[in-house]
Amino acid sequence: MQKSSIILKLSLKSTPSPVQEIENHLLQSKGIKLFIKRDDLIHPQVSGNKWRKLKYNLLAAKEQKKETLLTFGGAFSNHIYATAAAGKVFGFKTIGLIRGERIEPLNPTLAYAEEVGMELHFITRSDYRRKEDAIYQKEVRDRFGDFFLIPEGGTNAAAIKGCAELVEEVKQQLAELPDYWCASCGTGGTLSGIIAGLNGQKKILGFSALKGDFHQKDIRGMLSKVSATLKVADTSNWQVNTDYHFGGYAKFKPPLIDFINTFKKDNNIQLEPIYTGKLFYGIYDLIKNDYFPSGSSIFAVHTGGLQGIAGFNRRFGNLII
Ligand SMILES: Cc1ncc(COP(=O)(O)O)c(C=O)c1O
Repeated sequence: MQKSSIILKLSLKSTPSPVQEIENHLLQSKGIKLFIKRDDLIHPQVSGNKWRKLKYNLLAAKEQKKETLLTFGGAFSNHIYATAAAGKVFGFKTIGLIRGERIEPLNPTLAYAEEVGMELHFITRSDYRRKEDAIYQKEVRDRFGDFFLIPEGGTNAAAIKGCAELVEEVKQQLAELPDYWCASCGTGGTLSGIIAGLNGQKKILGFSALKGDFHQKDIRGMLSKVSATLKVADTSNWQVNTDYHFGGYAKFKPPLIDFINTFKKDNNIQLEPIYTGKLFYGIYDLIKNDYFPSGSSIFAVHTGGLQGIAGFNRRFGNLII
């Protein structure tokens, strides 16, 4: 099959996602423009950064004539959900190796993944920690046969290439590139893509959804691997803010929940508590504290993840409205 026809087949109809400007009194009083890239609208299930990360992986899998995608994730993983959905849309069998034990009834993320055909296998936390180790991967190949491996969170060089395309898209959508580019950081793959796409232009600010300051090293490592292929010369214009993780991955406090619910009421845009809620909470807090000079424009990526709200609300009692 010709490459162009594969690309055509893998294009989801709704890309490019819209860029939306937010207007309110705070932004007006501080002289700030805020734009949101609505990647949450890319597709109902393969949404946000997940589509960008999966796109070139799916193409590679097709080119290598693989029939099965195998990947790893936690029980509430957006990546597991999106990979299961993408498998269904693009005709791959999918296998998910899930950290921990199977708990019935399955949470909404895993129930959906199984419903659309992902074969779920629950592995011990100690095996899960070995997922990148060659011996463990051989054991997995011996057990599951031939497959295309996508790492946890979908982050690899192909994913970074997909995320870098976001910048090209925005160049077609806005007359001028915004001054600050903001995105949530889990593995840092999405931010690495944006850094690569901007190639030294503007300032990039990641907001860590996790505790710890490992992102500097991880992102530098990822960029050094892709710089030559993606022709990136300058990757010096970024930093990761670690002030808004609310205690760590999937941890939250009442002000975060209030922010998410108010943001929805004011803007009719749904955020979630793991990544995008923390991102926008951080952006608003920095705006209030005059981090961004008056006259600046901020661009923030809504990376999706809304599927996780059902599981979150089931665990914590319908906090997100
Ligand atoms: C909704 C959402 N936003 C942001 C991120 C962070 O992306 P990355 O792991 O590329 O830093 C993730 C995790 O992949 C996510 O699911």
